[in-house]
Amino acid sequence: MAEKKMWGGRFAEATATLMEEYSESVSFDWQLFAGDIRGSQAHARVLAKQGFLTEDEAQAIVEGLDKVREEVESGDFEWDTSMEDVHMNVESRLTEIIGPLGGKLHTARSRNDQVVLDFRLHVSTRLRVWRDLLRQVVRAFADQAEAHQKTILPGCTHFQPAQPVVLAHHLLAYCQMFMRDAERIDDCLKRTEVSPLGAAALAGTTHPVNPQAVADDLGLDGVFANSMDAVSDRDFVLEALFTGSVVMAHLSRFCEEIIIWANPNFGFVKLPDAYSTGSSIMPQKKNPDACEIMRGKTGRVFGSLMSLLTVLKGLPMTYNRDLQEDKEPFFDTDRTVATSLAVMADMMPGFVFVPERMRATVEKGFLNATELADYLAAKGVPFREAHHITGAAVAHAEKAGKGLEALTLDEFRQFSDNIAEDVFDVLDYDACIRRRTSPGGTGPESVSGQLGAVRAWLQSV
Ligand code: ARG
Repeated sequence: MAEKKMWGGRFAEATATLMEEYSESVSFDWQLFAGDIRGSQAHARVLAKQGFLTEDEAQAIVEGLDKVREEVESGDFEWDTSMEDVHMNVESRLTEIIGPLGGKLHTARSRNDQVVLDFRLHVSTRLRVWRDLLRQVVRAFADQAEAHQKTILPGCTHFQPAQPVVLAHHLLAYCQMFMRDAERIDDCLKRTEVSPLGAAALAGTTHPVNPQAVADDLGLDGVFANSMDAVSDRDFVLEALFTGSVVMAHLSRFCEEIIIWANPNFGFVKLPDAYSTGSSIMPQKKNPDACEIMRGKTGRVFGSLMSLLTVLKGLPMTYNRDLQEDKEPFFDTDRTVATSLAVMADMMPGFVFVPERMRATVEKGFLNATELADYLAAKGVPFREAHHITGAAVAHAEKAGKGLEALTLDEFRQFSDNIAEDVFDVLDYDACIRRRTSPGGTGPESVSGQLGAVRAWLQSV
């Protein structure tokens, strides 16, 4: 029935049922209802300010919309897919409640500027939730770091044991990643919290709108500058998806490490029961499923970013219905990022790291070899030669089945006359850490400084 549609004036025939099913978005964009209602209330108030509606009319619209929100929140609202989207569903219910006055709300507005406003409000709310969750994750990492300032583990390059570091330093590296993610969110918010209302369909409107007043009413920082850009810009969604992708990449890297560390051949960490599962056939197993799922879910978030980039790449100006495909990737990403961050914040305190296992791997791996080379270089031996001498000493120790620190001075002197009794001070693993005094390194001063900075950041956000 053509007359049923709000836009149906020129249509003689009904929309095909398949077309209704194919094109509806209310089955997912109903989630924008809170922003839709907030935006419409601001629009009504400003229409009154501009002398378009009487104060009483605006008041009736605002109250009618409050009623619609209550219905949605209490689960009484019946979403109707034949009405396409959240905007038409809300407006039509408003008109049922307050009568024909509801039809005045859409003056000086198009769904094209309306949908972007709704989506901007939604994305902004959710980005703030992500930022809060990131703060909880950073706190959980900092707490573990605090407890492991003396725990030595093999720092790797190429996933090969390279030099000893403290576990706190390793975990604080992740704090840096997550703090940058939070910063990226702040940056996204700057471009998300911009009001597009007043752009109308694409060209602006003949009505005397006041976009700044709408933005002020909604507490948004900025107002669109170009109506064509306002209705077709989805950069803010791309940026949110990118930011979510980076968050997931960071989480996934850590998950990968935990999965490796939990393998009994490493035994660096014991998994919390609350976030592990057993095998239905192999009784000895304890699987790091939460970490695996998080690593796995990362792919779908990257996929959402790709999907929206692809939607946007061929679109001529201005609004095209293709843009309706911006929402599901974001909803899915939001669910994934928010739940993953919540799981990580809750799971992190349950990891029991095993310092003895980490230490044993350090000692077995000749991770103090660089110290010996540096020791020789400090005594004037050209570094290349020092490197060579150290290599020979490592080969000797390996054959003898002991660490460099367990060689006797006589054994050392077969490789260089420059080695003296003081070599044992530098080969000591705790000394390796202590002597790394360079800024941002794994030495104790740097690590406690980093911890302090992370704590200060936690206070400031
Ligand atoms: N569901 C639509 C979307 O998400 C709302 C805007 C519709 N605008 C239009 N001109 N048909 O993009």
